[in-house]
Amino acid sequence: MNPKERIEQLRKEIEEHNYRYYVLNDPVISDFEFDQMMQELMQLEKLHPEFQDPNSPSNRVGGAITKLFPVFVHKHPMLSLSNTYSRGEIAEFDRRVKEGLGLRISDPVDYFCELKIDGISISLHYEKGMLAHGVTRGDGEKGDDVTHNVRTVRSIPLKLKGDFPKELEVRGEIFMPKSVFLRLNEEKQKAGEPLLANPRNAAGGSMKMQDSSEVAARKLDCFIYYLIQSEFDIKTHHEGLQKLRSWGFKVNPHSRLCRGLEDVEHYINTWKDKRYDVDYETDGVVIKVDNLKYHSELGSTAKSPRWAVAFKYKAEQASTVLEDVSFQVGRTGAITPVAHLKPVRLAGTIVKRASLHNADFIKKLDLRIGDTVLVEKGGEIIPKIVEVDLSKRSLFSTPVEFISRCPECGHELIRKEDEAQHFCPNEDACPPQVKGRIIHFASRKAMNIESLGEETVELLYERGLIRDISDIYKLSREQLVKLPRFGEKSASNLLEGIEKSKSIPFEKVLFALGIRHVGETIARKIAIHAGSMWKLMQMSEDELLQIPDVGQIIAQSIRRWFSKKENTDLVHFLAEKGICMEMSKSDLPKENHAFINGKSFVISGVFHRISREELKKIIEMNGGKCPSSVSSKTDYLLTGENPGPEKVNKARQLGIKIIDEREFAEKTGLI
Ligand code: IVH
Repeated sequence: MNPKERIEQLRKEIEEHNYRYYVLNDPVISDFEFDQMMQELMQLEKLHPEFQDPNSPSNRVGGAITKLFPVFVHKHPMLSLSNTYSRGEIAEFDRRVKEGLGLRISDPVDYFCELKIDGISISLHYEKGMLAHGVTRGDGEKGDDVTHNVRTVRSIPLKLKGDFPKELEVRGEIFMPKSVFLRLNEEKQKAGEPLLANPRNAAGGSMKMQDSSEVAARKLDCFIYYLIQSEFDIKTHHEGLQKLRSWGFKVNPHSRLCRGLEDVEHYINTWKDKRYDVDYETDGVVIKVDNLKYHSELGSTAKSPRWAVAFKYKAEQASTVLEDVSFQVGRTGAITPVAHLKPVRLAGTIVKRASLHNADFIKKLDLRIGDTVLVEKGGEIIPKIVEVDLSKRSLFSTPVEFISRCPECGHELIRKEDEAQHFCPNEDACPPQVKGRIIHFASRKAMNIESLGEETVELLYERGLIRDISDIYKLSREQLVKLPRFGEKSASNLLEGIEKSKSIPFEKVLFALGIRHVGETIARKIAIHAGSMWKLMQMSEDELLQIPDVGQIIAQSIRRWFSKKENTDLVHFLAEKGICMEMSKSDLPKENHAFINGKSFVISGVFHRISREELKKIIEMNGGKCPSSVSSKTDYLLTGENPGPEKVNKARQLGIKIIDEREFAEKTGLI
């Protein structure tokens, strides 16, 4: 079998296994076998860039970068649905449908009921069975072309199966499964990063990310619920869904054909509670006329079709008693009031706490301890208090007082103008703020000081041994061995871990400092761009804004951080202790550096993660060379999209290894 055939065979088999796993939920091979096939495919694609195909399953892991999403004008406007909240309103919809069709109210009409998936709508275009465009709704008339990001959604077919038409447009909902949402937020909490508000925002935000490999990490999913009519011989909406299924799309299995309003009502009642058992958020039911002839007869208004309506469940509410209010201090010093409730069952879980957001919120509700309150769970995971039952209020109750001093350090709280949140400004001495900063600094994705986890930081703090990040590097063996639960061995481990942190690359050091809004990915981009802490310190807001993905909020936050003397002192202290402050050879993990050092890379094609100039800079900074033509002295041909064919041929003749952007990124961790 020649390489071309093998590549095609692998792509086909991988997509089939992908389909079995993500659409049918019925895998027939192990993850290991799947990975092996993927490895082989990626290897072959690297060797043979001439056979590249944007719809190869290898693109599902991402890698492509989109700086600006092209505008895509929808061929048919993307409408929304009108909402209903009661049985009465559904009966009204039924009446309007029948009137529009010239039927009598007693004539039966079939409705098709589906769960309303709470994600973001997407329009997918296929040409000759290949995914050609994935487009967001935008304003309904035109959206963003987010095809690169759409390819990372495993349940969206890249190539269709069966007897698909030459051209096809389908619509559906991209969503983040609840389980993924919870796991991501847990990770974010541990890393001290801002949390995702809800699964819908998370899905929407993901589609707008520039780096598709980050989108791939978000493990999005997609149900298709609508087939745009053109030449098919189908009479009903539910037949359309069957077709979609036969072409390989994932169609929600919980839809039902309902013969009349009674069936519709039954469907709605059934899913009222059951919806909490599925791994995606649903906020209602979509009721569609099943007969497609009726769709064209009824038509649409400017906003929504007349043949469909959404029924929205009221957010679940429960009544309980407010037992206490406590105040939490976060790593950034923000104070969050928390309601302690008498445990109550709500939307499938037992609720004991509710966020009270801020002082204004408490005031607006005129909340009092002992009050009977109504709690509600909407799209958000944390429930909220929506109302106080005044009829049950005791005559002697007094309003909940917002604290004026920090519950942790006693410092007076501040509240900046225009800000809802109270803050404890005592950054340097307020325990949760100090401990939080140190825990973040030592965490795995930052300085990776293994034996300096939450508990150890707690202990060292309690004993007065650390009050600041710099104190980590002042710890001595004598101090440590005296600690409870701390023998020679743990002391050695900790000191060793601290010592090792001195070889952590600059990009991680930058992340470890905990500058607000500077997460892992942004830190890396800034590090590559600035090259060193010293350069970064001098960069103006405008210069910072030139860095990919750095906006005003991030740029200002960086400037603010460096404007404080304590922070620049810390940087100088850390530098003295031998912490990496620049992107230099010694900063990089050895193997990365070794991969480049002394080697010659010929660069050809268009790169997505980084510009060619930046790529060249990185190679040269790490001891490599970038000549312009391939010769026997070349070690690697580094190819982007559409590499020069002569270069590829020459490299092949000379037996020179060809690697692509992704492999370079994997080997070096630099882009
Ligand atoms: S049908 C012409 N079916 O709800 C509109 N929409 O408020 C066709 N949605 O924009 C939409 N689940 O993003 C339809 N099973 C479902 C749906 C669904 C979620 C979303 C969709 C739409 C919005 C309307």
